[in-house]
Amino acid sequence: MNAKLSLPDEALRRYVQQLPKAELHVHIEGTLEPELMFELAQRNHITLPYPSVDTLREAYQFDSLQSFLDLYYAGAGVLLTEQDFYDMAMAYMHRAHADGVVHTEIMFDPQTHTTRGVAIETVLAGLARALREARKTLNISSYLLMSFLRHLSEEDAFQTLDAALPLRETYRDLWIGIGLDSAERDNPPEKFARVYARCKALGFKLVAHAGEEGPAEYVRTALDTLGVARIDHGVRSSDDQAVLQDLIERRTPLTVCPLSNLKLCVVDDLSQHNLAKLLRQGVMITINSDDPAYFGGYILDNYMASAQALHLSHDELTTLAGNSLQASFLPQADKTRLLNLLAQAASQAR
Ligand code: HPA
Ligand code: ZN
Repeated sequence: MNAKLSLPDEALRRYVQQLPKAELHVHIEGTLEPELMFELAQRNHITLPYPSVDTLREAYQFDSLQSFLDLYYAGAGVLLTEQDFYDMAMAYMHRAHADGVVHTEIMFDPQTHTTRGVAIETVLAGLARALREARKTLNISSYLLMSFLRHLSEEDAFQTLDAALPLRETYRDLWIGIGLDSAERDNPPEKFARVYARCKALGFKLVAHAGEEGPAEYVRTALDTLGVARIDHGVRSSDDQAVLQDLIERRTPLTVCPLSNLKLCVVDDLSQHNLAKLLRQGVMITINSDDPAYFGGYILDNYMASAQALHLSHDELTTLAGNSLQASFLPQADKTRLLNLLAQAASQAR
């Protein structure tokens, strides 16, 4: 994406890169680049159904969320050991660091791994080792959001929660929240009402994917039935004026992922994406990468593609970075410190 930028775009990219920002919607399994997938396949004696990195990448043509999920779950099949999860997470942290990310809230899907016989202990140990190391060496803080797969049953989600809870103390610095992802259509938020109520009682922060392929009504039930603090995607909220009004009044953040929406045909063209309109209407919009290894860009690419397609101003890009810090689950003192750094970075670079 970089190579296509004109000179003024290069300057804008440098401007956005140096803004301190948070990434709030990224699936760690979606950061597994084809090169690392092949390396892990070889290390674990697994044969991938593609002869090369290039042919695998060429297969990343999607016409729906499900067409992506099929490849995404298959790709995760190379992850077996603690070291595999560490390597994947560390690679992401370096990419995020290069894009000026100072804080990440990362989703992981235990069911994708436990159903293959990989223990949740292995998953968490590898991810945590990378995130704790990155906190020291790259100065990026991280939280983990354990996400339930919504195409599976609520019973399965309860079992996943029960398997994870004994590890909560060990990972208290990282595992602070719960998410809901996978196939949205016909799997409405209320299917998980009881397990979300339990997670809320346990003191977890709550988020859920809603209004990506599913209707605005799912945003409504994610907010009112599940009680989430943020909506992942939520771009279809604009179909329902009352939902939109609530998002604006309650300052509920949307974690929007423009290149994901483009690749999964949620929008036909980025110039038709509603994120700029929603931002200008007063919705707390943030920009994120979702599954960057599959959708052709990390967070800075998402900012830049949006800036170009939607003519976002410097001030709007700075607001988006500020929204990401505000919308994070960081303690208020950390938010204030980072927002001050953002204000300095924005004024020195102009
Ligand atoms: N939507 C739903 N589930 C997902 C996604 C997404 O964009 N990415 C990874 N799991
Ligand atoms: Zn997502």
